[in-house]
Amino acid sequence: MSDSQSSWWRNAAIYQVYPRSFQDSNGDGEGDLQGVISRLDYLKALGIDAIWLSPFYTSPNNDGGYDVANPRDVDPRFGSMKDAEELINKAHNLGLKIIVDIVPNHFSTEHPWFKEALESQPGLHTRARFHFYDGRGHNGEMPPNNWCSIFGGPAWSRVTELDGSLGQWYLHLFDSTQADLNWENPEVHEDFERTLRFWLDKGVDGFRIDVAHGLAKDEILKDHRNPEGLTRALRLDVSDMPRAERESLLADVPFFDREKVHDIYRKWRQIFDSYSGDRMSVAEAWVHPSSRATRYVRSDELHQIFNFDFLIAEWNADFLRAAIDKTLIEVAAVEAPPTWVLCNHDSPRLVTRLGGGVPGAMKARAMALLTQALPGGIYIYQGEELGLEDAQLPDEVRQDPVFFRTQGIDKGRDGARVPIPWSNNKDNFGFTTGKPWLPLPEDWSDKSVDSQLAKSESTLELYRRSLSIRSSHPALKQKISRNVAGEISWLPTKPGVLAFTREPGFLLIANCNESPISIKVSGELLISSQPGVTEKDGFITLPAHTTCWINTSH
Ligand code: GLC
Repeated sequence: MSDSQSSWWRNAAIYQVYPRSFQDSNGDGEGDLQGVISRLDYLKALGIDAIWLSPFYTSPNNDGGYDVANPRDVDPRFGSMKDAEELINKAHNLGLKIIVDIVPNHFSTEHPWFKEALESQPGLHTRARFHFYDGRGHNGEMPPNNWCSIFGGPAWSRVTELDGSLGQWYLHLFDSTQADLNWENPEVHEDFERTLRFWLDKGVDGFRIDVAHGLAKDEILKDHRNPEGLTRALRLDVSDMPRAERESLLADVPFFDREKVHDIYRKWRQIFDSYSGDRMSVAEAWVHPSSRATRYVRSDELHQIFNFDFLIAEWNADFLRAAIDKTLIEVAAVEAPPTWVLCNHDSPRLVTRLGGGVPGAMKARAMALLTQALPGGIYIYQGEELGLEDAQLPDEVRQDPVFFRTQGIDKGRDGARVPIPWSNNKDNFGFTTGKPWLPLPEDWSDKSVDSQLAKSESTLELYRRSLSIRSSHPALKQKISRNVAGEISWLPTKPGVLAFTREPGFLLIANCNESPISIKVSGELLISSQPGVTEKDGFITLPAHTTCWINTSH
């Protein structure tokens, strides 16, 4: 059974590769699949269990490949289908699982279906795969409703009909080159089921489902009472909206988290279960209130859902404890394993979010050890293990559609997508022999993989050691039980300090304070996020902003 307690994904460490920025193998300035293959040994040695590959499918790449023009082929910029097969096989030979993205909310406007829709008359079945409608107003000059794109600007674009006249409008919740698919249409279901089987047949171990909460839409021809407000409420980085207003807007989003998405995932689950080898799926679904997330991981739906609480978390003991308790209680109700995500290709890098510089880096390391000790699956975004910060980029090099659609008001996500620095003694830190698609900061020499491998106190070495302990300590390596809420026991502590035990024999202490703390503990220090943790007379002293793991078995 694919969700037995021994399933690999229940507590896996999954590493997100954003292929365009990982490793270039052919000097065109963009990462590719052969580049990933050349770094598999690095990933194996890091101690992860699985790789999640962001899209490498045929795409004009207007939204970093999340604008898919053919989900069953490889874009030449990333290589060939042979490369994808080689990557899957070589990863498997090393004992690494492969998860790929699937993007069911929209297709690129370069997809043959969209081209066919443009080449046909309004009303034909070729248009019914998307959300095409006549506009409002005398000449159809107003969009069918007032929804806004999540990337800024209107959510509708008008097409030119075959006779050259301005014609119907199509819905795009994201960029205008990402046309939303109509999931009321059985053809859409069939096509995605075919794509799932295509990659399952190639041997992938799972799927990350993009915008998993977006597929079904309600009241598509009705105006929203506050479309701009809704878009702002959906953006977590907009903090100036009063909480009550945000919550009221998010309580009912006509294009997100509708009942019908669950029918889709129940069908998909049957497909996953029809394959041997414990295949899995993880949903990217921002839903409100967060307790609704558990609906996606009911036993006949998906396997995991990203928990984004830590993606916005400060290094604050009260906030973190509340988020951990809430998550564990929520997922325990559906017997699903929790997940923990500190950053990804859509969000600021962890160190940057926690203030940047030395303080940000200290907090990020402490946060990483806290996260890795929790029961459930963890997701690590490439470069997180190097303690990278967002790069400062000049506007001329930016490529994110968010930047363009907001006229540069929102700088977008490119800062977190800058390529990985591998070696100091090579051009572009060994990422490419050509011109990197985004420039790597010159002052990253102490961040490169080679330089961090040579320093035992580096963030990379911290991750390598912690992931190794995570997969060998009896309390951390065990597959979590269905009652995950009972997996950790909090200990009473002073303000600003978190401490919990996991059985057998594991204790975590996290000091979120600005000053050191001492705690009476008996056990052996396994790892700490900073040097300077001392043990004396049965007391352990932790510097400010430090997490440590202690083995309490004797
Ligand atoms: C998801 C992806 C993001 C993309 C968006 C639209 O949120 O993670 O990168 O821009 O979907 O596909």
